[in-house]
Amino acid sequence: MTAGAGHPDRHRREAGGFETLAIHAGQEPDPLTGAVVPPIYQVSTYAQDGVGGLRAGYEYSRSANPTRTALEECLAALEGGARALAFASGMAAEDCLLRTVCSPGDHVLIPHDAYGGTYRLFDKVLSRWQVSYRPVHLADAGAVRRALAERPARAVWVETPTNPLLSVVDIAAVAQACREAGALLVVDNTFASPYLQNPLALGADAVVHSTTKYLGGHSDVVGGAVVVSDPELGERLAFSQNATGGVAAPFDAWLTLRGIRTLPVRMERHGLNAARVADMLSTHPAVTGVLYPGLPGHPGHEVAAKQMRGFGGMVAFRVRGGEEVAVAVCGRTRLFTLGESLGGVESLIEHPARMTHASVAGSPLEVPGDLIRLSVGIESGDDLLEDLRQALAH
Ligand SMILES: Cc1ncc(COP(=O)(O)O)c(C=O)c1O
Repeated sequence: MTAGAGHPDRHRREAGGFETLAIHAGQEPDPLTGAVVPPIYQVSTYAQDGVGGLRAGYEYSRSANPTRTALEECLAALEGGARALAFASGMAAEDCLLRTVCSPGDHVLIPHDAYGGTYRLFDKVLSRWQVSYRPVHLADAGAVRRALAERPARAVWVETPTNPLLSVVDIAAVAQACREAGALLVVDNTFASPYLQNPLALGADAVVHSTTKYLGGHSDVVGGAVVVSDPELGERLAFSQNATGGVAAPFDAWLTLRGIRTLPVRMERHGLNAARVADMLSTHPAVTGVLYPGLPGHPGHEVAAKQMRGFGGMVAFRVRGGEEVAVAVCGRTRLFTLGESLGGVESLIEHPARMTHASVAGSPLEVPGDLIRLSVGIESGDDLLEDLRQALAH
């Protein structure tokens, strides 16, 4: 038995509203000292009471660590899953999931629009192990059905809203198509966070997160997670995670859990500020289009309104004058920091084509050069609007 697999609290389901779970799930006061926050168990191994006599199911920290367990229990509760596994990064989580469920010869449908690193994983790494992929317009459930009929797929990989174009996929509709075709549905829920969207409740089999983003929320830790509804798949993932070793370190798990406690209030404020930014950009003469699912004109607005509790903090927009203008605007903001990543309390701006999505250049997932992506933070909304106005006024 691997440590953690037999941990008595491992599959315990917590009750309560989302805000309560964010603060309490997996985070009971420490039984030894009463510490109200789970301690950082900065330890690699655990004393055994006789060979195989594990005290609380812990054996070695690659297999399981109490701080990581606390984070995993909280993530499982927030996504309504049976089991969560915390990884060293979002990419480690994706890689572990895909190598657990796919074998050489398997085929996966991927989005037409997705995080560049996910595309790179399929295109440059998994393809060498004979896992093939095909980009499909996943916002069109009919296209998904047709693609699955043409060639059976082991899995369908959905991102919604997508990075960076903020496209929205109807999770329940794609889940139905996947069930009929016997394909596993994976949803990358990074942009929404579990506060705004719970894909497992909509029929997905697995949720992945870059916890680096909204879950951590403070741009101070890199991490990832997989959450599943089927305990048996959870066991297989735990086996793979232990076998391949891309686990979240104790301090990283602790920082992520610290961020999660304020996820609900942060997401509310991200959403308020993003809506104001999207409204302002929509009428700005230097802007040719705004991509934000909260705007009634967005093609995915109705689906987003149905499956999300809010529209999130990510906004993308296109500028008049093309790529050079977009790059120049990215360099002119004072409050929005020019940088990769997203989901922290501070606002960020970036040019996807040259930064986060450089790896999709020349592929079907290529992004427009005149596109700018904003991660709208929780600063004063007035200051954010003023900063963008001055950056666009040239
Ligand atoms: C939607 C999405 N999924 C996955 C990842 C990868 O996560 P990480 O950078 O934590 O490895 C990212 C990173 O930007 C992302 O935006």
